Amino acid sequence: MMTANEIRDSFKQFFESKQHTIEPSAPMVIKDDPTLMFTNAGMNQWKDIILGTRSPEPRRRADSQKCLRVSGKHNDLEEVGNDTYHHTMFEMLGNWSFGDYFKEGAIDMAWEYLVEVLKLNPEDLYVTVFEGSKEEGLERDDEAAGYWRKHVPEDHIINGSKHDNFWEMGDTGPCGPCSEIHLDSRSAAEKAQVPGRTLVNKDDPQVIEIWNLVFMQYNRKADGSLEKLSMNVIDTGMGFERLVRAIQGKQSNYDTDIFQPYIHEMERLTGLKYEDKEQHNGSVDVAMRVVADHLRAVSFSIADGQLPGNAKAGYVIRRILRRAVRYAYTFLEQKEAFMFKLVPTLVHEMGDAYPELKAQQTLISRVIKEEEEAFLRTLDKGISMLDKAMDEMKAKGVKTLDGEQAFRLFDTYGFPLDLTQLICRENGFTVDEKQFDEEMQKQKERARNAAQKESSDWVSVEHPDGGQQTEQQFVGYDYTEYECRILRYRKVTQKKNSYYELVLDYTPFYGEMGGQTGDCGVLVNEEETVNIIDTKRENNQSVHIVNELPKHPEANFMACVDTDKREGSAANHTATHLLHYALKQVLGEHVEQKGSFVSPDTLRFDFSHFQKMTDEELRAVERMVNDMVRQDIALDEHRDTPIEEAKKLGAVALFGEKYGDRVRVVRFGNSCELCGGIHARSTGQIGFFKIVGESSVAAGIRRIEAKTGRECEEMLYQLEDTLRAVKSLFNNAKDLQGVIAKYIDEHDSMKKEIESFQAQAVERLKEQLLSKVQEVNGMKMVSAVLPITPDAAKDLAFKLRQAVPERLLCVIGSHHQDRPLLTVMLSDDMVSEQQLNAGQMVREAAKLISGGGGGQPHFATAGGKNIDGLSAAVDKVVSIATSNT
Ligand code: SER
Repeated sequence: MMTANEIRDSFKQFFESKQHTIEPSAPMVIKDDPTLMFTNAGMNQWKDIILGTRSPEPRRRADSQKCLRVSGKHNDLEEVGNDTYHHTMFEMLGNWSFGDYFKEGAIDMAWEYLVEVLKLNPEDLYVTVFEGSKEEGLERDDEAAGYWRKHVPEDHIINGSKHDNFWEMGDTGPCGPCSEIHLDSRSAAEKAQVPGRTLVNKDDPQVIEIWNLVFMQYNRKADGSLEKLSMNVIDTGMGFERLVRAIQGKQSNYDTDIFQPYIHEMERLTGLKYEDKEQHNGSVDVAMRVVADHLRAVSFSIADGQLPGNAKAGYVIRRILRRAVRYAYTFLEQKEAFMFKLVPTLVHEMGDAYPELKAQQTLISRVIKEEEEAFLRTLDKGISMLDKAMDEMKAKGVKTLDGEQAFRLFDTYGFPLDLTQLICRENGFTVDEKQFDEEMQKQKERARNAAQKESSDWVSVEHPDGGQQTEQQFVGYDYTEYECRILRYRKVTQKKNSYYELVLDYTPFYGEMGGQTGDCGVLVNEEETVNIIDTKRENNQSVHIVNELPKHPEANFMACVDTDKREGSAANHTATHLLHYALKQVLGEHVEQKGSFVSPDTLRFDFSHFQKMTDEELRAVERMVNDMVRQDIALDEHRDTPIEEAKKLGAVALFGEKYGDRVRVVRFGNSCELCGGIHARSTGQIGFFKIVGESSVAAGIRRIEAKTGRECEEMLYQLEDTLRAVKSLFNNAKDLQGVIAKYIDEHDSMKKEIESFQAQAVERLKEQLLSKVQEVNGMKMVSAVLPITPDAAKDLAFKLRQAVPERLLCVIGSHHQDRPLLTVMLSDDMVSEQQLNAGQMVREAAKLISGGGGGQPHFATAGGKNIDGLSAAVDKVVSIATSNT
């Protein structure tokens, strides 16, 4: 039987023999693409080729791509675990033709691979073809059906709807009809009873799609219409896990050698059996599948540089991790962090194929463990909240938990509905599911409205002298001004604001990428000047953001970058490289870049390191960077270098970054990195480097914030000004530190003296007030307005309570530095027997001093703004008390 690794290799070898170039997998976490968070299909990394903005050579390619389907158009999350063939993370085997072979070639090769190489039985294979769609104005794909007839009998060709047989990457973008190959792996007896063709696309676990051949012919535009692509593209995707299951003759993807190691390890760790249907609602197997699947998704994301977090991609990863935690918690009896214990198994299984896992094993384990622990604490809180809600329901005789509460549990504590339902059911309650769904819907709409961003289609600009260049040339490494024309533009509307995006033929503008913010500047000619407020990067191009379109977009312009800002960013980016180098020297080689942000006036650098940096380490790093700054090391840049050569130069590559075959190497002395950013011409341009913050961002990840050059100069001036001002307060004393220390000593001893005077004064006041206690309605009443501090008033009230333990009503109006305060103290019997409440009385009377407050039944205070009302407020408390006794 072929192992999973052998199957993967055989796919690559087969397509290599068909003249395909074998490509590495792109990272699973996508950076620098505003339209997609995760790679959800093998074709993502070729999107720009398909849309014609990057050269298609070589035209035949194949790969195995790590994908994640948990958000957006393709989302399988809730299915995972419940069945045996959905996954969040999976590998997709694919082959591509960019304007080379089309339907016939794709169909013939797919068939040859499945039947000749993998030896699948043709009788078990069914294929689908697009049946056409009236609303799209598209005919049935007779062409594909014709080619399939060469390989399969007519009754193995099945028409499929637009839903199943028209593949689209997202709401807009490349798309086209597709043919899927389905495999019937049921027993002979079952096949004899029910023909396989009736089970295709019917969610039968044994008759499943294994390969999707997409014939990309169109681009879906924002208005919903389809436009023909300039070349035909083949995009095929075969779910690796499903294929392995078919070849290994297993009933479930989880029974293959891809997943079994995790299941065995979980059985060993928990003492439970995967097959055991007697325990935990029969959900042990579901939970083990969930954990095995999610472990892979979360670990690969972390290795690609995406940590669990509160927003965007980070939040998606956090949700996946939490889903695993609560399955393990509920069905595998794991009340403590558990999933991280499986990381060694993962690294053992996949670390050879994906070295990023091996290199970052410690980080992955730590992050997962810490996230698990944090969520388990939240789970505990949620469970006690639910217990309380159930107690209340019991008291009221209610049997259904309302949907709003269930939703609150979901929203604040990450409690999925099924967990709430399970706990409720165990206690004899149900959950109002409909109401929960409504709340969920409302929240989705809120989120959609907040994020809604609509882009119109690109409008091509016709130039008087023709010429239809579509690829943009970036010239920003050498120029900050360049003559250009606008190739196309589109309008974008977000939250009622709108702006335009422009693509130029030549541009010196750097689009936001790799943490460096985009350039701003102007487009100018004799007629007009248009401000470029930002530049983003999309599909490998700089996209320039402007508030207004030029009046004559077809004209020639000069594109001029704001060089002040550009130089600030460049210096900060170079400083980031030096910082990265110095951190490795000072802390060790385990330091890996985990995030970076570079703008004209600041820089931020996240990296793996497991404890807080000491002051000495920070200084050592600063000194090393500043030494390199003073050496004024010139930029040594190698553009368009083969990646192998770059590695020989010792260039540091980052995990989770997508590098092509040819890369740019940026070197400043010993610091050598693969980088596409804009840099200083020499380190001297940094001027000076100063760390201004060091903190933790997640388990095992530290963040440094720093400033350079002019920003440091400003910081220094500010420091100097402050110091000068402080000195002048101390008569420009020479030994400023000594003088301040002496002042502090004096201040402390004076404070002590004042406190003791105050205590004596309070003691005297107490005696005076005690001599004036009035008996009213059986109460011993003390009231006064006094010029004392809030602390003294409190102290006095407590002393009086000690002296008069029964029937005491004490009301003190005090004022200090123009602030009035009302203090009410009662002896306990006044609360328990007379039902008086100091808090209520003080709240009522505080209105007279324009203030508010509260406290406990026996002691309460209220501050205010109006001193003149103080004695009226005291009287008010007295009158409330007397009328209630
Ligand atoms: N893009 C298609 C899919 O993801 C084929 O690769 O299914």
